[in-house]
Amino acid sequence: MKPRNGSELFTLRGARVIDPAVGWDAQADLCVQAGCIKWLAEDRKPEGRIMDVGGLVVTPGLIDMHVHLREPGFEHKETIATGTRAAVAGGFTTVCSMPNTDPPIDRPERVADLLNRIKGDAVCRVLPIGAATLEHGKDRLTDFQALLQAGCVAITDDAFPIQDFRLKCATASQAAATGALFIAHCEDNNYSVDGVMNKGSVSRELGVPGQNAASEQIAMLDWNRAATQAGVADSFKLHLAHVSSDYTLRSLEFLLDSPDHIQHLSLETAPHYFALTAEAVREHGSNAKMNPPLREEADVAAIKRAVADGTIQVLATDHAPHSPEEKALGLADAPFGIVGLETCLGVALAELVHSGVMSLPELLATMTCNPARILGIESGTLAPGSPADITIIDPDTEWAVEPEAFQSKGKNTPFVGRALKGRVWGTIVGGRFVVREGELL
Ligand code: DOR
Repeated sequence: MKPRNGSELFTLRGARVIDPAVGWDAQADLCVQAGCIKWLAEDRKPEGRIMDVGGLVVTPGLIDMHVHLREPGFEHKETIATGTRAAVAGGFTTVCSMPNTDPPIDRPERVADLLNRIKGDAVCRVLPIGAATLEHGKDRLTDFQALLQAGCVAITDDAFPIQDFRLKCATASQAAATGALFIAHCEDNNYSVDGVMNKGSVSRELGVPGQNAASEQIAMLDWNRAATQAGVADSFKLHLAHVSSDYTLRSLEFLLDSPDHIQHLSLETAPHYFALTAEAVREHGSNAKMNPPLREEADVAAIKRAVADGTIQVLATDHAPHSPEEKALGLADAPFGIVGLETCLGVALAELVHSGVMSLPELLATMTCNPARILGIESGTLAPGSPADITIIDPDTEWAVEPEAFQSKGKNTPFVGRALKGRVWGTIVGGRFVVREGELL
């Protein structure tokens, strides 16, 4: 989306300003003019309207690389209007939309249609991601160059993970040749089979089929092999979506030790993978069902370590809304996916920052400059001249997750009732407030 820029000149005064892109963390004033950052300074005369935001944290607008907005085709689950309202309520100023819509975003005309809808309805920036295969099929790749030219920021097989090794090689070749970022949903169906949750003691006790956690690890190794075989290990840009398993991270360590591994590799996880284990499925049933599934304590610990040490660079939500009727089908039959836009920041603060795993600036890097760098977009910083996409966080407010109060149509969350500390106070897109004092404007 290209939001209408705000025309106002204003200064946010007295906040703790954190801009991980430039290593800034100090009390400062931030001046915005005509939709762009004018200046950031510790001691300078404020310009325009002065807004006192003392006690709050001002940071670059959060970026979510992994969001299912569902439109076109699944408007009963979410629309661009409701999904982007959920995004700004959660502090996101940019979201990347996944292509598993109906029709899928697999050709330039469909990108154009999507961009039109975004222009009409979105309240934050939406960057489309194109589908890797035509009609989400198993054999024919899309035209990556054409999708990029039409406005996609990346290509993905999310929700329809490519299995065939030759198709993986062709994907790596085409992505490398066009410079496309490829976002891989790592799942080897030989190991996930028809599992509806992680394979382990809980799946056995509940009597439902489980997915072997090796599924993700093996698919990752396969992508590396495909890139090597295609001769593009040095140029293929691979981003691993929603990393969930300790096996994957351990294999990655070995992989990075080998001389011929993919050079441009980035990793993403989502809050539920460091906040919950498969135990949550007992209590929340299908509202704790997503793909990849919640795993075990050892995985949670490994994911936390990997976010803290920078092995995982990106925190995304994998916001996947479904209707109450669909989720009511029960654990075995309900679709995979949980919502995340409105709980991501609160859960991440609780699990990573308040618990001492990492600092607030380190967390914010995974939601601002890191995804911006991987996507190659100009936001994700408060540097003068940048778009005035800004998130204002009240770090001390305590609140409890109430799905009924979500802006999203999706209420499917295993975090229902969870007490959190730290909440979005304001969201500014292109110099224009869309959330202020916690209220959507
Ligand atoms: O949990 C998931 N939900 N995983 C996916 O791969 C797809 C997504 C969806 O579209 O609902």
